[in-house]
Amino acid sequence: MIIRFPFRQAAFGAFAALGLGAMSAPALAQGEVVVYCSVQEEWCRPMMQAFERKTGIKVSMTRKSSGETFAQIKAEAANPRGDVWWGGTGDPHLQAAEEGITEEYRSPMLAELLPWATRQAEQSKFRTVGIYAGALGFSFNTQQLARKRLPEPKCWADLAKADYKDEVQVADPNSSGTAYTKVATLVQLMGEAKAFEFMKAMHKNVNQYTKSGAAPARAAATGESLIGITFLHDAVAQAVGGAPVKVVPPCEGTGYEIGSMSIIKGAKNMENAKKFYDFALSAESQALGAQAKSYQVPSNKSAPVPPEAPKLSDIKLIDYDFAKYGSSAERTRLLAKWDAEIRNAPKR
Ligand code: G6P
Repeated sequence: MIIRFPFRQAAFGAFAALGLGAMSAPALAQGEVVVYCSVQEEWCRPMMQAFERKTGIKVSMTRKSSGETFAQIKAEAANPRGDVWWGGTGDPHLQAAEEGITEEYRSPMLAELLPWATRQAEQSKFRTVGIYAGALGFSFNTQQLARKRLPEPKCWADLAKADYKDEVQVADPNSSGTAYTKVATLVQLMGEAKAFEFMKAMHKNVNQYTKSGAAPARAAATGESLIGITFLHDAVAQAVGGAPVKVVPPCEGTGYEIGSMSIIKGAKNMENAKKFYDFALSAESQALGAQAKSYQVPSNKSAPVPPEAPKLSDIKLIDYDFAKYGSSAERTRLLAKWDAEIRNAPKR
């Protein structure tokens, strides 16, 4: 089913005027917090620095993809080493909530969030929350396309055509939340049997399954791959950087992520984890994304929506069933099926 999702895009400007200079001077040392970061490294770093400056709490940060971080938190559950998991697609955060490896927290900041972000919290019994949203799609290198005299890909269906043999790059859905969003999106758009048929056909065109979800946008930007399947905002970041890419919301419609955040159960620095969580839901911190060329739609009602952010209200979005595709049983089942039927399927 295709719906136009009622994303409200907050006005840009009001907050920009405030500037981040308004943040307080470094406070006295207040202990530490260990953050697992699943957004782009370029955004992880300034976010951690801003939190350190504001609170005096020292941050130890590791950047890993969403599926990898989920697996790590699960493996460490008996002796948790991380405190907060910030960013990455919502499905594995929901799975972590269901599996009881993340902690319930009702932040006072929830009142400042848009409904799609608080719904994520309610659905998980307050074990996760939405921090940004972004739609899935692909981008292609316009120079390579012209050089190879290929037609413009406009739809998901195009990506399985023989024209694009070895020209498509996408991440591995086990490590990458982006690629899992792609699997779940196709299943919801086409029905499961057709979606797996399509992925099998597209597999012949895939030159590499990368570990990180945004890597294919960089590959399309440099021309290493003609086409990269990623969130649209990751491709926009390449276009803004001057790369010859065209960003495509697929003609059939597409899915989206609610990038999320969770506190790890048994966090050793629980109080500081909550401070980080509250900070990450503020308009002030969410404004840092755009400055780091991360053009998601922020979840705080007063956070500026970057003008570069793909307008979700203009894209044909499916009514993505987060409860189902973020459930432990469904995510585990679909990943096992992808491993069995797609990963090593014949290339010819
Ligand atoms: C990029 C996107 C984020 C997304 C993340 C998922 O950083 O900008 O919006 O949540 O990828 O990463 P992954 O590597 O798990 O696909």
